[in-house]
Amino acid sequence: MQSTLLLIYPFLKIGHVIFMVFWLAGLFMLPRQCIYMLDHAPGSEGEAKWASRTGKLRTIILTPSMIIVWVLGLSMAIAGDHFSGGGWLHAKLTLVLVMTGFHGWLVGQTKKMARGERPLTEARLRMIGELPGLLLVLIVALVYLKPF
Ligand code: HEM
Repeated sequence: MQSTLLLIYPFLKIGHVIFMVFWLAGLFMLPRQCIYMLDHAPGSEGEAKWASRTGKLRTIILTPSMIIVWVLGLSMAIAGDHFSGGGWLHAKLTLVLVMTGFHGWLVGQTKKMARGERPLTEARLRMIGELPGLLLVLIVALVYLKPF
């Protein structure tokens, strides 16, 4: 299996980076969609419209992209034997687990908002919306510098 994965390695990496961009785009958009939903009263038509939009973003872009990034990333890690090649991948995976946890938590918050709850203020949504960007900078630096 490792030799087959090595054969298609460049395509694994192409797919990995493309779906990483989709995943990050979704993680940047979702907090902002929540902020727009805050403008509408619980149970209103406006809330229902944004609840449908956040639902589509979740099921069509966010969650499938996250799964594909993981599958292609782990395939490259096995093919390139990167788990035994220094600690950069372990450090990267720790940050990616934080990003995955954030994804899951945020999805939970949007489902609460779709039910009419308002668990987060606009200020908190704007603040947490910066986390994926910070993680992206650290993850990409680790991948290209492989400092350890
Ligand atoms: C989900 C778990 C992930 C795993 C297991 C993983 C693993 C890997 C591996 C093994 C490589 C190949 C490194 C090489 O050939 O030098 C790679 C490349 C890359 N990863 Fe990930 N990754 C994951 C998630 C992410 C995320 C979330 C991002 C960005 C936010 C990311 C950004 C990149 C980039 C930009 C490259 C290309 C590096 C190059 O051009 O050589 N990865 N990843």
